[in-house]
Amino acid sequence: MLRPILILALLALLTLYFRQPRTNSLPVLPKAVKSSVKQQQPPPRNGRTVAVGDLHSDLAQTLAVLRLANVIDTDSNWSGGHDTLVQTGDIVDRGPDTIAIYNLFDKLRKQAKDAGGKVVNVYGNHEVMNLGGDLRYVTEEDYVSFGGRMKRKEAWDVKTGWLGKQIYDNFNITHIQNGHTVFSHGDMEPEWARLGAETLNLLSREAIWKGDFRHAPIFQGTGKCPIWSRSHATQEDGMEETCKSVDAVKKALGVNRLISGHTPQYRTGKILSICNGGYMVIDVGISKYYGGHLAALEIIENDDGTQSVYALYPGGKRLV
Ligand SMILES: *[C@@H]1O[C@H](CO)[C@@H](O)[C@H](O)[C@H]1NC(C)=O
Ligand SMILES: *[C@@H]1O[C@H](CO)[C@@H](O)[C@H](O)[C@H]1NC(C)=O
Repeated sequence: MLRPILILALLALLTLYFRQPRTNSLPVLPKAVKSSVKQQQPPPRNGRTVAVGDLHSDLAQTLAVLRLANVIDTDSNWSGGHDTLVQTGDIVDRGPDTIAIYNLFDKLRKQAKDAGGKVVNVYGNHEVMNLGGDLRYVTEEDYVSFGGRMKRKEAWDVKTGWLGKQIYDNFNITHIQNGHTVFSHGDMEPEWARLGAETLNLLSREAIWKGDFRHAPIFQGTGKCPIWSRSHATQEDGMEETCKSVDAVKKALGVNRLISGHTPQYRTGKILSICNGGYMVIDVGISKYYGGHLAALEIIENDDGTQSVYALYPGGKRLV
């Protein structure tokens, strides 16, 4: 009768014995000490900043570009460590994978935060259109994925819908990264930049909360507002005037460069960089709808306080 107990005890001792060397290599700290050691680690300062443009409900291309940028692993979990990922809006419309991509970003925001990194989401005109009920570019597959038109409408409600709330809580119309780079979906023009990033974010949040999508100046349809303007991307007043305008924005916001999406560079599939790197367009037509071109922007913080900016392509990395 004693035998089985003895054998079990022997097995337990053996297990303990063989596990010993592994635990020996690391000091075993009590839980409280462990968490305070974790908190004492210096905050990350020199993570990369990577940015991707318009995704237009194309999950496969979204995953491909985030892998290219090295911020997710093969399981689509955050692998960017202390990096910051900025997405410049237009996740929705023209494709079927709206829900999957917003939920991917929701997951990555949490995973990045836990890892000491960050995911930043910026409003595109298509987010604002969908929140405001302008559904011109919604595909049939997209409606189906929400369970029909009514369900989709409910989901996008800013105050009560799961997606509307998710977006309202996590998106802003502009973001300034580390004081040197301003991101917006459309082009940031001097008149808006002079208000400052914080005011722009507050103005847009207020308009969205009030449901004022059509008349709030900050969302004016074809106007010069930060979600719609293409004035820099198209150099509509010529290169010289464009760069003057870019310089005025840089000065107003105290930054080194402006990064936009919105104007797809599908003819080249390459990041557009003009005005000595003062203005770049990262919407290269990532979704299949726009040609399926992969590119991400990468900003490296140099020790001397300057930044090196690269374009990441499937074929390699290029200084821009
Ligand atoms: C990816 O994240 C999910 C939870 O979001 C987790 O269950 C899974 O184990 C993760 N995969 C890896 C390889 O970390
Ligand atoms: C949006 O911008 C406001 C004002 O700049 C800021 O307080 C807030 O934290 C931002 N929200 C997010 C989710 O980044």
